[in-house]
Amino acid sequence: MPKTVPVLTIDGPSGSGKGTISRLVAARLGWHYLDSGALYRAVGLAAAWEQVDLSDEAAVAACAARADIRFETGPSEAGDAAAEPRVIVNGKDATHQLRMETAGAAASAIAALPAVRAALVDLQRGYRRAPGLVADGRDMGTVVFPQATLKVFLTASAAERAARRHKQLISKGISANLDSLRADLEMRDERDRNRAVAPLKPAEDAMLLDNSSLSVEASVEQVMGWWQQRRPF
Ligand code: C5P
Repeated sequence: MPKTVPVLTIDGPSGSGKGTISRLVAARLGWHYLDSGALYRAVGLAAAWEQVDLSDEAAVAACAARADIRFETGPSEAGDAAAEPRVIVNGKDATHQLRMETAGAAASAIAALPAVRAALVDLQRGYRRAPGLVADGRDMGTVVFPQATLKVFLTASAAERAARRHKQLISKGISANLDSLRADLEMRDERDRNRAVAPLKPAEDAMLLDNSSLSVEASVEQVMGWWQQRRPF
């Protein structure tokens, strides 16, 4: 049954706007939303809490398999389609910690470990529930949902992505330096693109969208337009 539920995947590098655009598209369609990056961030954090060595593949994979990760929409997020849900990891509210670039770097390190990725596949596929799913990440269209009805690969220039991430962190009260943020993002993307398993790359049948000079609304409209053309009814 879940195989009949439509999936729309949005992959791309850090700061390409995947999260915001995916949440808005999911809200427009009335679908579920999966932030797969948050799962990798949460596993990195759970492993750090348990003082597991992040290069110990089996130990981190075991952490991934037993982690209890929940997304919750609280009263302050309700009604705001672009708001990020709270992320509860092993019973603790980890929303703030997960937004830090250190959490992104830890996620990228453990995401290169094949056993960790394997431990998260079924969990991610479990988010495919009626009436549909918008899934964002790096390998949603290539590995996790290769049969997705529509696959989008978002990009934006490194300068634009760093500027967006900077603005996002500052607005959440997290201090950040633009130059070091750009260097961190580029290093993370480099690792994500060059890893042996599930590297960051567009699926062969993905629609490419460079949104460097597009507004969020225009990007959402573009994705919705592609979806209208693709939908089977
Ligand atoms: O999207 P976000 O920046 O939260 O992702 C954090 C890290 O998690 C990425 O840099 C990437 O290494 C990893 N990731 C991944 N596959 C996904 C989503 C995220 O490898 N589907």
